[in-house]
Amino acid sequence: MDTNRLSQKIASALNQQMTNEAHNAQIYLAYGAWADSEGYEGIANFLFRHANEERNHMMKFLEYILKRGSKVVVSAIPEPGPNPAGVNDCFERIFKSEVENTANIYNLVNMSMEEKDWATWNFMQWFVKEQTEEETLALDLLSKIKVAGGAKAGADALYALDADLAKTPDDARLAQDVSVERP
Ligand code: FEO
Repeated sequence: MDTNRLSQKIASALNQQMTNEAHNAQIYLAYGAWADSEGYEGIANFLFRHANEERNHMMKFLEYILKRGSKVVVSAIPEPGPNPAGVNDCFERIFKSEVENTANIYNLVNMSMEEKDWATWNFMQWFVKEQTEEETLALDLLSKIKVAGGAKAGADALYALDADLAKTPDDARLAQDVSVERP
């Protein structure tokens, strides 16, 4: 009896996304190690915490594939790429990487809709919301570095930014959570 509830196409895309999330974790890990070695412990702490979030995303895909009776294929994780040129470059790359990840997530949503695979469509909605948060978080980082002077940020501003990021919460606040009393 066939108990696999995923099409070949969707199973393959979900497995690919599982690897993408592991790749994202490696990017945050590599940038965190880079930040620490540059003396930015607060930024490193923030990036290391986020690497864990990406590993959690990876596990959600792994678990979903298994729970739908399909096969998990653990494959090689691509290299995270070269180190950032500076803090501004680091945050710009993070934003770009999150936007690319959103495109991958939307692609899976489209695919599940085309196949009328509503279980996968429903599962993917968590990631649609999560990506809005991730992009918001990355945009917040870019705003902070912009205020600090962007690519030309001086040592004092970077020192303050580093201290701030050590305390930055892991989750960004979404527009739908805002009220008149709490703008
Ligand atoms: Fe798992 Fe940052 O997206």
